[in-house]
Amino acid sequence: MEKNLIFHGSDVPALAEKYGTPLYVMSIDDIRQRCAEIRVSFTDKYENTVAAFACKAFQTLEMIRLIKEEGLSLDIVSGGELYAALKAGFDPAHIGFHGNAKTPRELREALDAGVGTIIVDNFSELELLNRLALERGICQGILLRVTPGVDSHTHLYIATGNLDSKFGFSVPEIKKTVFEQVREMKGVDLKGFHYHVGSQLTENNSHIMATGIMLDLLANLKVRFGYVPRELNCGGGFGIRYADYPERSAVSTFMDPVMDMINSFYRESGDPRPTVIIEPGRWIVGEAGITVYEVSSVKTNAAGRHYAGVNGGLSDNPRTALYDAKYEVAAADKMDQPWDTLTTIAGKCCESGDIIAYDVMLPKMEIGDLLAVYSTGAYNYSMAGNYNRLPRPAVVMIENGEDHLSVRRETYEDMIEREL
Ligand code: LLP
Repeated sequence: MEKNLIFHGSDVPALAEKYGTPLYVMSIDDIRQRCAEIRVSFTDKYENTVAAFACKAFQTLEMIRLIKEEGLSLDIVSGGELYAALKAGFDPAHIGFHGNAKTPRELREALDAGVGTIIVDNFSELELLNRLALERGICQGILLRVTPGVDSHTHLYIATGNLDSKFGFSVPEIKKTVFEQVREMKGVDLKGFHYHVGSQLTENNSHIMATGIMLDLLANLKVRFGYVPRELNCGGGFGIRYADYPERSAVSTFMDPVMDMINSFYRESGDPRPTVIIEPGRWIVGEAGITVYEVSSVKTNAAGRHYAGVNGGLSDNPRTALYDAKYEVAAADKMDQPWDTLTTIAGKCCESGDIIAYDVMLPKMEIGDLLAVYSTGAYNYSMAGNYNRLPRPAVVMIENGEDHLSVRRETYEDMIEREL
């Protein structure tokens, strides 16, 4: 076996040498492959479908341009994400704007930019948006976000579990009041509905149950009001590979049964089927990314736990601390040595919980050795912060064995720049 880790054709220690550590490395080839897979298994397979990238998972100007090249739409959740998307030249008509607490300013920005769809979360937002749209003399395309009441973490259907979600309208709320109210509003055009059942899902039962609930709602609205939606957005949430989940799920695992349900529903009703939209984030970028660290300390504590401390941590990857995420790791400059040492990889932040990975087998690590953590392409860069005044890592993109800097490393000066 080679001594150095090769990631999508690039020598990882060479990247660390060239750009420094900690370093996010993202494979454009992998991202393009995922987009191609989405075409084959969803957008080309089923007519009248759209895939949007949920850019909260990883948003840089280069990534937005990549998504544009790949022909996907974009799901955003803030004025900041909208600003960057527009800066990167993304067509606002293909943007869907999410969020449970959009500010008046964000709604104005979205209306003024011509965002194609605003996914409305609650009634106060609906009233505000309607008023702002009328002030501008426009009729804004919207979806209503529905919380279908599916508990995606345990994969159990809990009939009233949705009462406690901060997202969306409940089904009874829509049936009782909201649908009729929204139809009276002249500043919004109800294109259809949205639902999203959760993230890092490894089984399709939540999607299936939620789709059933949505189709029941649509049947109800058809009978009572003759309403047929033009769009139905099924959200994202498709799971990827981490240490505790061996293989990325296929999009078809989720969407084939969902499309069967939707298609047969419309075949029976005789109405035109709405455009079906998905919005994966993690699935597109998660496995495309690794984080490369340098070991900056080694020790064995009184309890016998052996640690390798690295030059990053929860500031660049809060997911272990937040979600108990499990990562696969590699000794990027010692791949040829026996992986015989049980090691816990500690981040450098002043928090006991700042651990990147507990109890992983690695070669004996020494100061200066390189560690690569896999599947960090989603929700790592985008959730990174400056806790303990750690500068955020650089992002390097690799394609066909070539590498280029996409986001430069943050400096100490950057971190104090806004202080007056
Ligand atoms: N659509 C909506 C409405 C969402 O809320 C989300 C994610 C997505 C799409 C994309 O989900 P994905 O395909 O990436 O699973 N920070 C957490 C994940 C939070 C996901 C929030 N919503 C993590 O690091 O695991």
